[in-house]
Amino acid sequence: MRVAAIALGVLAAGCASAASGLSGADGGPAADTSRGAASARTVLAGVYTGEQATRGQQDFQQSCASCHAVSEFSGPIFQRIWAGRAVGEMYEFVSTMMPDGDPGGLTPQEYADILAYFLRQNQYPTGGAELPADAAALRGILFPGPAR
Ligand code: HEC
Repeated sequence: MRVAAIALGVLAAGCASAASGLSGADGGPAADTSRGAASARTVLAGVYTGEQATRGQQDFQQSCASCHAVSEFSGPIFQRIWAGRAVGEMYEFVSTMMPDGDPGGLTPQEYADILAYFLRQNQYPTGGAELPADAAALRGILFPGPAR
């Protein structure tokens, strides 16, 4: 239920208040993560590798590009919608709801690689380690900026 609502919020578009309404309303993991921590870091810390993003680009072309332009997942509106929210939240949505018609049809690694591709499209820096294909670990990595 919650992930579907997030998708709608995102689609409903760019509507920052929809996004903050959501995290406020459910008091869920997103809110907890951002309050939670000392250990939280952001995608500005270098959380994926260039090689991973290149794999993700190929996976995206193969499994996502029939319905999405990659430009949907970068730029000021995307960054505003995701500000203060966890990469894990996006991972959970994408890995359980996408591709539409074949949800969960990719491997965890492929989903993580696609998110790395999105990070590169947003010009977030690369680092020494790959973005983990693990929802719990990804919940500790936030998009920069104050949650709205
Ligand atoms: C067959 C068409 C189709 C394919 C293929 C597809 N999607 Fe989607 N996607 C949709 C539709 C339709 C929605 C909006 C409805 C929804 O939320 O279920 C959506 C919504 C999304 C959203 C949330 C809204 C947004 O724009 O931020 C993300 C993120 C997303 N898709 C990522 C992906 C990724 C990553 C892949 C490849 C693994 C993928 N999609 C493959 C049709 C598709």
